[in-house]
Amino acid sequence: MSDQAITPNATHAGPCAIVIFGAAGDLTKRLVVPALYNLTTGKLLPERFALIGVDVADLSTDQWRQRLADMMQSFTKGGGEFQTDRIDEAAWKSLATRMTYLRGDFGDDTTFLRLADLLAEQERTAHTDGNVLFYLAVADRHFGQVAEKIAAASLADQQGGKRWRRVIVEKPFGHDYASAKALNARLLKILSEDQIFRIDHFLGKETVQSILATRFANGIFEPIWNRDHIDHVQITAAETIGVERRGRFYEQTGAVRDMVPNHVFQLLTMTAMEPPSSFDPDAVRSRKNDILNAIPPVTIDCAVRGQYAPGTVLGQRVGGYRQEPDVSASSSVETYAALKLEIDTWRWAGVPFYLRTGKRMSKRWTEIAIHFRRAPLSLFKGTDVATMGSNWLILQIQPDEGISLQYQVKRPGQTVTLAPIKMSFAYKDWFPPQPNVGYETLIYDCMIGDASLFQRADMVEAGWRIVQPVIDAWTAQQPADFPNYQAGSAGPAAADRLIAGGGCAWRPMSEKS
Ligand code: BG6
Repeated sequence: MSDQAITPNATHAGPCAIVIFGAAGDLTKRLVVPALYNLTTGKLLPERFALIGVDVADLSTDQWRQRLADMMQSFTKGGGEFQTDRIDEAAWKSLATRMTYLRGDFGDDTTFLRLADLLAEQERTAHTDGNVLFYLAVADRHFGQVAEKIAAASLADQQGGKRWRRVIVEKPFGHDYASAKALNARLLKILSEDQIFRIDHFLGKETVQSILATRFANGIFEPIWNRDHIDHVQITAAETIGVERRGRFYEQTGAVRDMVPNHVFQLLTMTAMEPPSSFDPDAVRSRKNDILNAIPPVTIDCAVRGQYAPGTVLGQRVGGYRQEPDVSASSSVETYAALKLEIDTWRWAGVPFYLRTGKRMSKRWTEIAIHFRRAPLSLFKGTDVATMGSNWLILQIQPDEGISLQYQVKRPGQTVTLAPIKMSFAYKDWFPPQPNVGYETLIYDCMIGDASLFQRADMVEAGWRIVQPVIDAWTAQQPADFPNYQAGSAGPAAADRLIAGGGCAWRPMSEKS
């Protein structure tokens, strides 16, 4: 066990109100409100606080609270992302009593005028000091319009710094480079960059946040973290789930848009960035952006797409993508993508980064695997050692968060032979589990105004720029071989050929690898 207690962040969130647009939706129920509950139990929500939910659904405040309470109770029965034995009634009550529901259409100006009145009332009764966090938990087509209506009702006005007004924008932020650029331009007409918090929920994951600590709080890694010592890097984000009830969304999206310019690039930039001069949000984000700017757009010969056929996942027979609800029977949308990237910097020139992400894979498995150059064999000439094994440093993001280092030892015995072994650190062995749906830190950071874990406009655009040629080529050309991987497998054979072309092989997705 760790000998250091876990202490909450030293900065405390000041008085504020949170307004959730899309209050009757799934995201609110499954993630945002459970995260607020966890912040309540962790005593990280301000005393002077109000929560306003806005949606078109015909609900009263009591009905909204009850729906959310029912959802929270379902978590005790194993439903949803948040697993817990019991809901702390006092904490829930303290949160629920601060909730108000406002029924209104997002396209209707009067909704925002009524919201302005409600916020003014909450400022008087809950003493929120006029600070407001607007959470856009709505379909992406509403982002621009809701933000404009917030601004038109003077709700984004920070009154020269007397109060703060911030807006959380959910994913997807655009569908390609042009639409992301257009959305940024639309938002930046009415809000300043430091008012916009573009969420990428991968940055809410504890292990993703800890990549920087691992790299920069330890003297041993940085000297070897470069092209002189690293052969290549593999980033995997594999899921066992299919597209579930999101067929309609996924048909317009596909694996690249859904995962790569956002989540996978966050893992990549955390791994590859130069040390920032401080933890100042812009210092961190600028170093990440430097990496994105140093990646040339991916050419089509460095990209492989796949779509799952029926198969067996975790012992269950499942259908193929084309059999999913709301999916075309001849769909050419990819559910798997593998890419090879280069980063043109002094640190990384010549080191390939291989990325892959897919649905209905054999295992839920997200890792960053760093493959170091082999040691020279010379010393072992004349022994039974024919080849040298590899050194891997694995940052395991999910499941079973941890870090492991694979290296060679001498096998006990009279002859000289080597065996690969693994030194492993698992978070769960050192730290007590913390109730977490992944949104707690993000919401908390937004309340304290720390944008480090949020995407800046230039980062979002740079991410889309890198994958745009692949999106264009795949849209223009139908795949000849879809479906081309079985559900429950490790992806299409073409992805193996992609990495084999560089003399490498994908790591198996298993603890034993
Ligand atoms: C979302 C994608 O952003 O991330 C989903 O839209 C994907 O398709 C999900 O399943 C993966 O996130 P996590 O936290 O479950 O790994």
